[in-house]
Amino acid sequence: MRMVDIIIKKRDGLALNKEEIDFVINGYSKGEIPDYQMSALLMAIVFKNMNKQETVDLTSAMLHSGDIIDLSKIKGIKVDKHSTGGVGDKTSLVLGPLVASCGVKLAKMSGRGLGHTGGTLDKLESIPGFKIALSEEEFIKQVNDIGIAIVGQTANLDPADKKIYALRDVTGTVESIPLIASSIMSKKLASGSDTILLDVKFGSGAFMKNIEDAKKLAKTMVEIGDGLNKDTRAIITDMTQPLGLAIGNALEVKEAVDTLHGHGPKDFVELCLGAGSIMLEQANICKNRELARKMLIEKLNNGEAFNKFVEFVKAQHGDVNYVLDTNKLPLAKHIIEVRSQQEGYVDEINCLEIGESAMRLGAGRKTINDTIDMAAGIILNKKVGDFVKHGDVLAYAHTNIDNFDEIIKDIQMSFKILKDKIEVKPIIHDYIK
Ligand code: URA
Repeated sequence: MRMVDIIIKKRDGLALNKEEIDFVINGYSKGEIPDYQMSALLMAIVFKNMNKQETVDLTSAMLHSGDIIDLSKIKGIKVDKHSTGGVGDKTSLVLGPLVASCGVKLAKMSGRGLGHTGGTLDKLESIPGFKIALSEEEFIKQVNDIGIAIVGQTANLDPADKKIYALRDVTGTVESIPLIASSIMSKKLASGSDTILLDVKFGSGAFMKNIEDAKKLAKTMVEIGDGLNKDTRAIITDMTQPLGLAIGNALEVKEAVDTLHGHGPKDFVELCLGAGSIMLEQANICKNRELARKMLIEKLNNGEAFNKFVEFVKAQHGDVNYVLDTNKLPLAKHIIEVRSQQEGYVDEINCLEIGESAMRLGAGRKTINDTIDMAAGIILNKKVGDFVKHGDVLAYAHTNIDNFDEIIKDIQMSFKILKDKIEVKPIIHDYIK
């Protein structure tokens, strides 16, 4: 088999078979296929696409390129959840302990934030002492003991994806549904859970800018799961404004704790209940989503979801005093009111723009090696659909930097204010199974 023939076949719009796809992934992982040939193939895939079977075969080849986590020692159905990323997305911090308090086993590997989006691991690390690196044994024991563990990815999980993603990043080949879907799903499948719930976001702060593309991506990932016999479902959710009110690591932990006490922002609570009820159904804890929703609300109201969060933080060496009293979490030296220059209804809060402003305040990383300021970020005071008068506070910017005037103006500009009130759409737009 020759790589050049495979490139030509894809260039001419023909489907690759499993042997050819395995040859490419094995050869590229071992360094036998050079970057220039792999780049040519990736570009051919961007233009000529892949069918369902090719996408399943590509995912399977990638997931077998490294370790596959064996979670069979954990009793019960292991449930995983993945979000395609956004601004203010602290869902795992609430959803994890919430479903674990209902008896679900959540053995989750998460990532760090980059650019305008945040990462679950960074948020958890704003709790002093919190440890995201556990050995496989510790990870399994913790999930068996308390139902939940959230850790960083192991070094040898899906090495093919690491290498291919780095190449896609510099060759203009990120934007391809089969490539994105196989990249996400190969990592999720290698993480070893029995079921996967995907939260595919659309909007200014998301990978997929419109709902149609988000649905296509979700459908492709569900098809991959089906093709590889894994119960995979997806929800399509709104990222045309940040999720909840808080953006920034310690600020999001505080919002997560408030939500676990039953006082969360409406859109965020709705997402947790919607996603959680699907996970309880996947784990066979509840017969249907209506019963599951009731159970989740009860766990929020009776304190068991919050107690599970405390147990989880303690198990991963976090100092629980910071979650029992979130006023102890780091607070920035400047808290600046961002005021409206217009009157009308908030039509959009551009996530890409406000996420970048939060990053410049110190909450995020421009490059992978930057350090972040756990206290920095933004608290929204207005959401889409709210009426604002000239001079009303739109948001509060939290920062330890002194040179913030430009950023404050940019936060102001991310609010699009119009004369007419728009209809606020539900956070979960669709469910794909
Ligand atoms: N996230 C991934 O893990 N891979 C992609 O290709 C895009 C987003």
